[in-house]
Amino acid sequence: MALYRMLRPLLFSIDAEHSHALALKVLKAFGAWPGAARPAPGRPRTLMGVRFPNAVGLAAGLDKDGVAALGLARLGFGHIELGTVTPRPQPGNPQPRLFRLPEAGALINRMGFNNAGAAALAERLAALKRAGRMAHTPIGVNIGKSKATPLAKAAEDYLACMEALHPWADYLTVNLSSPNTLGLRTLQYGDALDALLGALKELQARLASRRGRYVPFCLKVAPDLEDDALGAVAEAVLHFEVDGVVAGNATTARPLPAGLKHRDEAGGLSGVPLAPTARRTVAELRQCLGPERPIIGCGGILSLDDAQGMLNAGADMVQIYTGLVYRGPSLLRTIAALERSD
Ligand SMILES: Cc1cc2nc3c(=O)[nH]c(=O)nc-3n(C[C@H](O)[C@H](O)[C@H](O)COP(=O)(O)O)c2cc1C
Repeated sequence: MALYRMLRPLLFSIDAEHSHALALKVLKAFGAWPGAARPAPGRPRTLMGVRFPNAVGLAAGLDKDGVAALGLARLGFGHIELGTVTPRPQPGNPQPRLFRLPEAGALINRMGFNNAGAAALAERLAALKRAGRMAHTPIGVNIGKSKATPLAKAAEDYLACMEALHPWADYLTVNLSSPNTLGLRTLQYGDALDALLGALKELQARLASRRGRYVPFCLKVAPDLEDDALGAVAEAVLHFEVDGVVAGNATTARPLPAGLKHRDEAGGLSGVPLAPTARRTVAELRQCLGPERPIIGCGGILSLDDAQGMLNAGADMVQIYTGLVYRGPSLLRTIAALERSD
């Protein structure tokens, strides 16, 4: 896209968080143009009962509050995942908290779920749905736990978010894998995971019968789980009939050369260095889950080959974040065209 080529030098000349805010403003303005968003041509697929027009979606975290949802949909994504939102607004971690590592094609972030809260997103999505201009692009909403909520009460936060966003989401993603909320990742294990999934499935069924609409939910897992733990998560997914898995999030590992600027910043690493781990996680999960359960592959997709590798590893669909920052929107159109049916 010509506009991205023009904007890129400006975006990369300012610090990463201001650049992100500016990009969101441009995308918001792009969304205000008349007309509906049209997904890029690709092969449609139905996963979790939702029809996705192509294989590439926007990963969570870029538009946590849905302020630029329409502009992002206009870029051609086959779905966009908003959030992570938490039940109440929260400021996130102190700045700086987002770092570019251009030599490595990577980002490190420790945003800490800065967001305006579930109610604000619900209101924005209600208006978007009423306007009908995003009818062709499924919306996922990624939900999380407030920083102030003790881990023992985490389920209450996820349940509150599910209830608030249920009317407006095509699917929900339960984020258990952010490295930037203390203890969050422990919810991926054992009794804590079982209790959370049991409660979410119960509410999902209750909302479906009360509101006449079944909204599927995915678990978003970390790429840093050891094989045993990943196997246990897969077992729980099958046992509780969780609708799908997003694999995965940014990594706490640092597969980066020593001395690289920002290498040792705390937070999650995304982009090129994450790709092998993310692909391995998808392959392992596919083996544990069998052929049917939907897997959305996410992590280190910056080229067509990366996307193909993720699909070959067993993903049904992919999401990108860091690839959009470094390669621009043409990346998503290239990936979408990969599986064009016409
Ligand atoms: C600045 C930033 C913020 C993010 N925020 C979230 C978030 O709020 N929730 C979430 O589930 N993932 C979040 N992620 C993780 C991405 O959704 C994605 O899983 C990860 O970056 C790996 O994909 P990538 O290599 O294509 O970027 C964030 C990533 C970045 C770079």
